Amino acid sequence: MAETESLPRHVAIIMDGNGRWAKKRHLPRAAGHVAGVSAVRNIVRAAIDMQLSCLTLYAFSSENWKRPPTEVSHLMGLFRTYFSEDVDELVARNVRMRIIGNRSRAASDILAMIEDGERRTSGNTGLNLTFAFDYGAQEEIAAAARAMAEEAVSGQLDPKSITPESFAARLSTRGLPDPDLIIRTSGERRLSNFLLWQAAYSEFVFVETLWPDFSPAQFREALEAYTQRERRFGALSPEPVA
Ligand code: IPE
Ligand code: IPE
Ligand code: MG
Repeated sequence: MAETESLPRHVAIIMDGNGRWAKKRHLPRAAGHVAGVSAVRNIVRAAIDMQLSCLTLYAFSSENWKRPPTEVSHLMGLFRTYFSEDVDELVARNVRMRIIGNRSRAASDILAMIEDGERRTSGNTGLNLTFAFDYGAQEEIAAAARAMAEEAVSGQLDPKSITPESFAARLSTRGLPDPDLIIRTSGERRLSNFLLWQAAYSEFVFVETLWPDFSPAQFREALEAYTQRERRFGALSPEPVA
């Protein structure tokens, strides 16, 4: 395993493939989502054990509301289970839990559980665990632009002062470093409206494994692959020493 200093600071994961995992086993899609929650627990524990600084998990997109109501309500039931059963462990293991996404559409009891989890873990100093829940990057960017436009119209903000940094400070990820590594499971190779702004210089690891089968060993392999990448951020590689 990589040395702690070569670990990415921020890993984000697009947890995909629950439905296909279930289909392969002739099970209902719901069974795939249940198995997906176990994978979340395993990966969060692995991230804590390896002292990762930030882990962001794409749990539900703003487009996932388009799924059949029975699937959406099953997923919401799993969020209830997770936030009611797992926050104690997060508190005990010094994890700071947060949510990014739209907070106006989900059921009020889920939002209350989320806010309770955020409050109870707000003083923790270990892993920064962020769930992208009812999250869509285009909505996030549009909301930031709208807020700035409103301030400009009311005279509180000079449009000339807007910079990439001041814009990023209006996004829901403010305070978090941009993801160094984005992992997507299930063989799909797209962002699906995840962290569009923040992914400007992220490295990508795509794995064929379906999310419920994604193991801590495969997680470590993805981090290992990251350590082999050369990140140039538009500049040139350092000249080899003669
Ligand atoms: C990811 O698995 C879970 C969510 C999007 C909530 P999917 O449900 O997208 O699984 P596939 O892609 O249909 O296999
Ligand atoms: C992206 O997966 C959203 C999450 C993993 C929560 P989807 O399964 O919704 O993405 P598409 O529809 O295949 O792009
Ligand atoms: Mg999918």
